[in-house]
Formats: sequence, C-alpha cells, structure tokens
Amino acid sequence: MATNHKIIIGDSRNMAEIQDESVQLIVTSPPYWQIKDYGNKNQIGFNDTYEEYINNLNQVWFECYRVLDPGCRLSINIGDQFARAVTYGRYKIIPIRTEIIKFCESIGFDYMGAVIWQKMTNMKTSGGASVMGSYPYPRNGHLAIDYEFILLFKKLGKEKNNVSKAIKEKSKLTNDEWRQYFKGHWNFSGAKQDKHLAMFPDELPRRLIKMYSFVGENVLDPFLGSGTTSKVAKELKRNSIGYEINKEFLPIIKTKIGSNNSLFEGRDKIDTFFQNNTIAEKLNFNLKLVKNDSLMNNRIKHSDYWKELKSKLIQ
Ligand SMILES: C[S@@+](CC[C@H](N)C(=O)[O-])C[C@H]1O[C@@H](n2cnc3c(N)ncnc32)[C@H](O)[C@@H]1O
Repeated sequence: MATNHKIIIGDSRNMAEIQDESVQLIVTSPPYWQIKDYGNKNQIGFNDTYEEYINNLNQVWFECYRVLDPGCRLSINIGDQFARAVTYGRYKIIPIRTEIIKFCESIGFDYMGAVIWQKMTNMKTSGGASVMGSYPYPRNGHLAIDYEFILLFKKLGKEKNNVSKAIKEKSKLTNDEWRQYFKGHWNFSGAKQDKHLAMFPDELPRRLIKMYSFVGENVLDPFLGSGTTSKVAKELKRNSIGYEINKEFLPIIKTKIGSNNSLFEGRDKIDTFFQNNTIAEKLNFNLKLVKNDSLMNNRIKHSDYWKELKSKLIQ
C-alpha cells in the first residue's frame, strides 16, 4: 500500500493546510522551555517566558483539536524540567505537563492517563543528574529525572465508523505487543542525538501508531524535528503530516523518511510545502482569536516572579 507524507516547513500554531477532522492520530514532543535553541527566531520555547511558552503551546493544542477526528488520540511526550537555584532562587520542578493537561481538558479533550517512559535523561537536556542537592545528607536531595511522560488525550465525539474489516486485520496487534504497549511503564533508551538535538527514538512513535491508528490513516506531528514520526508512520503504512519551523532540518527529515519505495506495492509520495505569507497573516488573525478566548485564561496560577522568569535555566 502506497502512503503519502507531507512535510510542512512552517509554524504549527496555525495548521491551515490541514482540514478539520482529517487526522486520526497526533504524536509529538514539544520544544523544551529555554534550554534548547532550535535555530529559528519564531520557535516556541527558547526565548519565551514561562507564560509565553505555555500560551504558544496551547495554540498548537487548539489546532490539534480542530484537525483531529472525533474519538481519536493526541499523544504528547514531555518530561519534567527544573529551575536551578542559581537562576530561580531555589530549586524547583516546572509543572509543564499539568498546564498541558488542564488546557487540553478545557478545550474538549478527555485526559486518558500517561505512560511513564523510564529512561536515563541526559543531564544537559532536561537538567537531571544522578547526585543532586544535599548529597550525602538529608533533607534536600533531588530526584533524578530519569523518566518522561507520554500524555494521552482523546477528542470527544462519535468515532467515524469507516474502517474496513481487512484494514482492521492488517492493523491488529499481537498479544505480546498489546501487553507490552498498554503497560503504564515503558523501558527503552532515548535516541542518540546525532542528527537533531532532541529526537525521540523510533520505538516511541512505533508503539503509539500501532496502539491508536489503523493502516492507511493520517498521523500528524506538529513538531517534526528530524522526522521520526513520519519515518515510522511510513514504515507502518500510515500517511503522515509534519510541521517543522526550521527549514535547515529539511535535509535531515528527507533522509530520515527516505524515498525507498517497494517495487511491488507502489510508490510512497513525499512532498514538501512552505507555509506562505497568507498563512502567516491567517496565523496572526487566529492567534488574536485564541488569545482573546477565555480558554487561554484557564491556566494554573503561578507567582509573578515564576511567570516572568526570563533568564536561562541552564547556563
Ligand atoms: C523536541 S523537537 C522534536 C523532535 C522530534 N520528535 C524528533 O524525533 O526528531 C521540537 C521541534 O519543534 C520545532 N519547533 C519549535 N517551534 C515550532 C513551531 N512553532 N512550529 C513548528 N515547529 C516548531 C523545533 O525546531 C524542534 O525541531
């Protein structure tokens, strides 16, 4: 079965290129807050205050809700980050995932729980280290951040009942896969960061795509990075759409997705699009709409100092 893959170089706060309710699964890992520079001035996270970061991400979740089919899943890989005593005044964990859960629930998603992905997180990425705080004395040791979450959301509404028996059979999980994937804990290591600075391993989208989509359906990643989600979607005979703001990543994405086509099953189609100015105008318009929306105020209240923290977490 030939599949289609769209790489869109643009800003996923507006996904005007995608029709309402035309995607059956979203798999993504958002940019970090402040600690990684993905090399584009419009990127989310690096230059944002905490407030701006959360609001920017919320605009993406808002768009995710629009493009997702009812009854389908949004899955978000996110780890904890920490603020350092030297920059924040005291050591503290930043509750990004709680903001995501609260916002997504407020726009009509049901929160379906989270997988805990057990991995050794590199100290330089999330800020975790094995010995931290008052070691070897009580009471101020800090937990190692050696895990991340995969938050699962379901869009409410009646599922379209349009999957044929043949496709269902092709998409069937084995007993072992089912038992392994639907556990609350996953154990596999992270990806070697050689092509891009924040990739997840193929195993992460592979499990989610098998768990929550059928062969031939459309999988979206609004933060495509190096293209891992599209690569795996192609391998599993799903179509994909990916947004990436930095056009410098395009060669990496293309190499990763590959052009390899089965001689016997027809050619997979891989297209690249560049978001144009009309889209950018629409983006500004939409942002105003979303910003004015009272949903954007449905936020966890943090102290002013916390909200406005601008200095880098890791120096
Ligand atoms: C954590 S990385 C994703 C890595 C990806 N999961 C992989 O395996 O390669 C986040 C990506 O989001 C991109 N990004 C940041 N802001 C964006 C925006 N507004 N729209 C689209 N992409 C954005 C960054 O350039 C970065 O490549």
